[in-house]
Amino acid sequence: MLRIGMLTSGGDCQALNAAMRGVVKGLFSERDDVEIYGFQEGYKGLIYSNFKMLTSRDFSGILTVGGTILGTSRQPFKLMRVPDENGLDKVEAMKHTYHKLNLNCLVVLGGNGTHKTANMLREEGLNVITLPKTIDNDLWGTDMTFGFQSAVDIATDTIDRIHTTATSHSRVFIVEVMGHKVGWVTLHAGIAGGADIILLPEIPYDINTIVKAIERRKKAGKLFTIIAVAEGAISKSDAKLSKKELKEKQAKKNYPSVAYELAEKIQKKSNQEVRITVPGHTQRGGSPCPYDRVLATRLGAAAANLILQEKYGYMVAIKNGEITKVPLKEVAGKLKFVDPKSDIIREARMTGISFGNE
Ligand code: F6P
Repeated sequence: MLRIGMLTSGGDCQALNAAMRGVVKGLFSERDDVEIYGFQEGYKGLIYSNFKMLTSRDFSGILTVGGTILGTSRQPFKLMRVPDENGLDKVEAMKHTYHKLNLNCLVVLGGNGTHKTANMLREEGLNVITLPKTIDNDLWGTDMTFGFQSAVDIATDTIDRIHTTATSHSRVFIVEVMGHKVGWVTLHAGIAGGADIILLPEIPYDINTIVKAIERRKKAGKLFTIIAVAEGAISKSDAKLSKKELKEKQAKKNYPSVAYELAEKIQKKSNQEVRITVPGHTQRGGSPCPYDRVLATRLGAAAANLILQEKYGYMVAIKNGEITKVPLKEVAGKLKFVDPKSDIIREARMTGISFGNE
């Protein structure tokens, strides 16, 4: 009997179900004796032994379905070694559930934080295979995470819609795109949607540079400006502050999000009316785009292959179009940032996009 535990952890994204379907169909293509234990709401389900026994039928008809049939939750890595409110040792509890169910392997679908915990469980002696999910595309070791392209599609559609209304008004439009630490979705949606200014966490901005870019457009007869800003975009002066100082400063100002802070700054420095659009969690919602369906299916099948070969301790990944595997210990704790000196940034600048820094 092959006993597989499966969980989805962290923020959801498109193609989680497609990926799990890929794993399960892949396993059943080689074996009939597979038991699937679906842990509810991520690591919480593993900690508190909350699971559903699933059959291959549960994974039929879910290729195009958004969200996750297992549910998910955020269980911060830094709290994993901190006992819960009843004094329960979470790590020991997860190990206990795994051994009690006599699992051969735990399949974990998640992003950055999830991978830190998955690696810790590997170090604790569990057999773990992971799949890279997140709209942020910030997981080290893979060129692409599933969810990313679907989120880019949605954010691009938002910018496209703003574009048509923007042409009717002389205003500055700010579209705030998800991504606290990295700006991949903002960068791609910004370029795809023809944003005039793109602001990323990786390239701290100067408000005067932004205002100059808006003025330059006005002089050229372009009366509107579209700014795609990542949730975690930061000014050059704020980037110099320590984490603590920045938190204190943000608490004093208490803007709902970065777009509001930026709007206030632009309004103060120029005569332009500013409007804000925050697509928020719509970027993680709905059906996965075809690219993500294909990627998730391939990664799922690759994960099944590793399990069938009893090769554990890896994240399945895509590199240069090829499906591959990366040791979990190399992935855990590393983020994949946008390189401000990369070709894509240089090419975007060549088409007239300002990154607000020079
Ligand atoms: O990590 C995915 C992500 O959507 C980020 O882009 C965003 O900053 C964050 O999750 C939002 O988290 P939550 O769903 O917990 O509000």
